[in-house]
Amino acid sequence: MNVTLTDKVSIKKARAKDLPYIYSLYQEEIPTSSWTLEDFHEFSTQKYNDIFSITLGKVCVGFIMLTSIIPESDLINIAIQKPLQNIGIGGKAIQELFTLLQKRGVANIYLEVRKSSQALNFYVSHGFQITAYRKKYYADNEDAVLMERQLV
Ligand SMILES: CC(C)(COP(=O)(O)OP(=O)(O)OC[C@H]1O[C@@H](n2cnc3c(N)ncnc32)[C@H](O)[C@@H]1OP(=O)(O)O)[C@@H](O)C(=O)NCCC(=O)NCCS
Repeated sequence: MNVTLTDKVSIKKARAKDLPYIYSLYQEEIPTSSWTLEDFHEFSTQKYNDIFSITLGKVCVGFIMLTSIIPESDLINIAIQKPLQNIGIGGKAIQELFTLLQKRGVANIYLEVRKSSQALNFYVSHGFQITAYRKKYYADNEDAVLMERQLV
């Protein structure tokens, strides 16, 4: 992987040709999800949805999936490829996302996450608050945690 950790972290709308690689990251990093590559293509063509590449320099190192109906967005997935996790890339990417969504007129972002997920702390660190729990929400009976972040 040809990246330098001091390279700039950016988010960019993914193009159709980026989706197979993003899908491979999704399979590695979100193993409990069940979307197909066709689902990804279908999702990305719908007007309320976004798939962003997270780039370090020019290299795609992660992705964000989002549905927005202004003034609300639902964060569906965010992932960074494993060897580059926990060094601040996801944090920079989510801050970029907040700026972009604020410009679009989004006032609230919602998400749901597994109670055991390490990402829960990440979301708290970036200003999300727990609003509710859904007991035994997932197929394996794990609870879901619902979170919200205000942007304005
Ligand atoms: C959740 C995820 C997107 C976060 O991205 P990331 O790049 O690892 O996030 P960061 O590095 O910015 O922050 C993660 C932690 O590393 C720590 N960290 C950040 N920069 C650091 C640095 N330079 N040195 C040491 N630690 C650092 C932060 O304190 C942070 O801790 P926190 O989670 O308690 O806030 C990523 O870990 C991931 O892809 N996980 C697997 C997929 C997943 O669970 N996605 C979410 C559910 S859909």
